[in-house]
Amino acid sequence: MNVLGIETSCDETGVALVRADATGTPRLLAHALHSQIDMHAAYGGVVPELASRDHIRRVVPLAEQVLGRAAIPLAGIDAVAYTRGPGLAGALLVGAGLACALAAALARPAIGVHHLEGHLLSPFLSAEPPSFPFVALLVSGGHTQLLRVDDVGRYRLLGDTIDDAAGEAFDKSAKLLGLGYPGGPALARLAEFGDPGAYTLPRPLLNRDTLDFSFAGLKTAVRTHAVKLEGATCEQARADLAASTQEAIVDILVRRSLGALEATGLASLVVAGGVGANALLRCRLDSACARAGARVHYPELALCTDNGAMIALAAAMRLQRGLATPSAGYAFDVRPRWPLEDAGQPMGVAGSPQHVPL
Ligand code: KG4
Ligand code: ZN
Repeated sequence: MNVLGIETSCDETGVALVRADATGTPRLLAHALHSQIDMHAAYGGVVPELASRDHIRRVVPLAEQVLGRAAIPLAGIDAVAYTRGPGLAGALLVGAGLACALAAALARPAIGVHHLEGHLLSPFLSAEPPSFPFVALLVSGGHTQLLRVDDVGRYRLLGDTIDDAAGEAFDKSAKLLGLGYPGGPALARLAEFGDPGAYTLPRPLLNRDTLDFSFAGLKTAVRTHAVKLEGATCEQARADLAASTQEAIVDILVRRSLGALEATGLASLVVAGGVGANALLRCRLDSACARAGARVHYPELALCTDNGAMIALAAAMRLQRGLATPSAGYAFDVRPRWPLEDAGQPMGVAGSPQHVPL
């Protein structure tokens, strides 16, 4: 079975083709991505209307590229998956529209996928895939969550952010330091030249008995220090503040992840979402988990940020388990706000899960 996946929830247009047998881990046949980062950089953040228009321009050529690379004709597609939410409404509609039109023309199922489910399953496409159950640390621009994952669609929220997401903490701090968008990679690059112990920054909530996160206090502290640096030409101080900020965010994420492993008694951690590309986070999690006797699984670096492969993969894994709910009559509705727990079993539109034969 070949599943085409389309991702258009935010500022990346991603298309991919995944092949799945009745059992076993699906394989990635080809994927293509267009990042809108350069377009939005001029505005310091994502402009939703521009994002939608650019998805419209890019998505069909990307789909053609993917099919060409995989040498699969249109008729060789068995299901078309798209990101149904969460994300920007207009941007989501572009992927949903193409997916449903294509699926209708081919008389194949169209399957709406939860973006975060895509992220948390993405390490299954890596060289060392995890096995269920595991703890997932989802760290993206909009989400910071710890989940217990027992199987596809069986997610229990263990901890969530009560204010900003980890990616937001990176992005907002980077902005305060005068760095460009997206801030995470820019801040990480500047941090390489700084002293992570130069500034003492708060780790909100860490002394409380909870697995929740909070980053707002950290951002306020960064602002206070950044204001003092304004106008100063001391590059070293900016690098020190960047390094101290990254240190605080990573410290919070690592300590909470270890807490979740301990609370669940599980020995396997999956890290997914854009912030999962952060080198310091990977290094700290590797050593902390090794000390705790746990294993960490990451998606391939190219699949950490948004992409079509994770959407095709999530749909394929649901189809393998009879958990995918194809959109009835190819009518689609997107869900810009969609809690992951609501995307449990079955996914998508109301009604009992419809089994799509493999
Ligand atoms: O998962 P993602 O691509 O999009 C969302 O669904 O939000 O995550 C984007 C987030 C941004 O906040 C970006 O700054 C952050 O991931 N990010 C990083 C790094 N690469 C991307 N943060 C820290 N270090 C990185 N290397
Ligand atoms: Zn994402």
